[in-house]
Amino acid sequence: MKKYLVIGNPIEHSLSPMLHNYWIKKNNIDAVYEKKKLDENELKNIIDDVKKKKLNGVNITVPFKKTIIPFLDSLSTEANETQSVNTIYLNNGKIIGHNTDAAGFELAIKKLEYNLNNKKVFILGAGGVVSSIIFALNKMNPSEIILANRTKEKTLILKDSFKNIKIIDWGEIPNFDMIINATSLGLKEADKINLDFSNVGQNKIFYDVIYNPKETNFLKIAKNLGHRFENGKMMFVYQAHQAFTLWHKIMPDIDDETIRLFDK
Ligand code: ATR
Repeated sequence: MKKYLVIGNPIEHSLSPMLHNYWIKKNNIDAVYEKKKLDENELKNIIDDVKKKKLNGVNITVPFKKTIIPFLDSLSTEANETQSVNTIYLNNGKIIGHNTDAAGFELAIKKLEYNLNNKKVFILGAGGVVSSIIFALNKMNPSEIILANRTKEKTLILKDSFKNIKIIDWGEIPNFDMIINATSLGLKEADKINLDFSNVGQNKIFYDVIYNPKETNFLKIAKNLGHRFENGKMMFVYQAHQAFTLWHKIMPDIDDETIRLFDK
C-alpha cells in the first residue's frame, strides 16, 4: 500500500487527509494519506523516508514550506520562484519539491470567471502563501499588485523576489478592484481585521484564503457592503487536485459530492 502524508505544525485542522482519502477510495487506489505534526528537526527523517520509498509523497504546510527546501534535490519552477514547497515526490531517485498552491489560486480565480486583466489587486499579509498568490497573479496580468503587512520587513523580502509589487503601510487602503486576505486573521471566528473598508467604492471582490470558517468577518463585511466575495475553499481543493494528479497520474473528479465534503 502506498503511503502519503501532510506535515505541518499545527496539523490537526488539516482537511487534506479527508480530501485525498476520498479521492483515493473513489479511484480504487491502494493507498492511505495521513497527517503528522512535526518539529523542524524531523524534516530530514521525512525526506529520508521518501528516498527509501517508505513514503510515496508528502504535502507540506505551515510553517515548513520554505524550511523544507534545503533537504530537496530539485525544485519545479513554481517552487523555485515562490521559494515555497507544498508537494514532494521522488523522481529517478531525486527528491523533487513542487508548489501547487499557485496553480490552486489561479484555478480558483478562473472558476470565479473574474478577469484580472488590468485590475488592481490588494493583498493583506506576507505569510507563507503570499508568494504563491503573487506568482499566480503575475500570470493573470493585473495592472498593479499592492501589498501591506503588519510587519513591513516581510513585505520587503517578497519585493526582492517580485519586483513589480508595490508595498504600502499596514492600515492604508489603496484603490483596488480585488482585495485578498492572506493573513491568518479570521481563522478564529472572533478575529477582526482592524481596517475600515466602508470607503472602498463599489463592485469590488473580496477574496479570503481562509475556508474554515466559511465566512470570516472579512467576508461578512464584504457581504454587508454589497461586494462580491469568495473564500479559499476552491483554492484548497485545486491545490490538492494538482498534487493528487501528480502523484497518482489520475485526475480525480471535483464534483458536487467533493464540494459537499466540506459541509460536514
Ligand atoms: P507565517 O508568517 O509564519 O508564514 P502565516 O500564517 O502564513 O504565518 O502568516 C500569518 C500572516 O497573518 C502574516 O502576514 C501576519 O502578519 P505579521 O507578518 O505581521 O505577523 C498576519 N497576521 C497575523 N495576525 C495578525 C494581526 N493581528 N494583525 C495583522 N496581521 C496579522
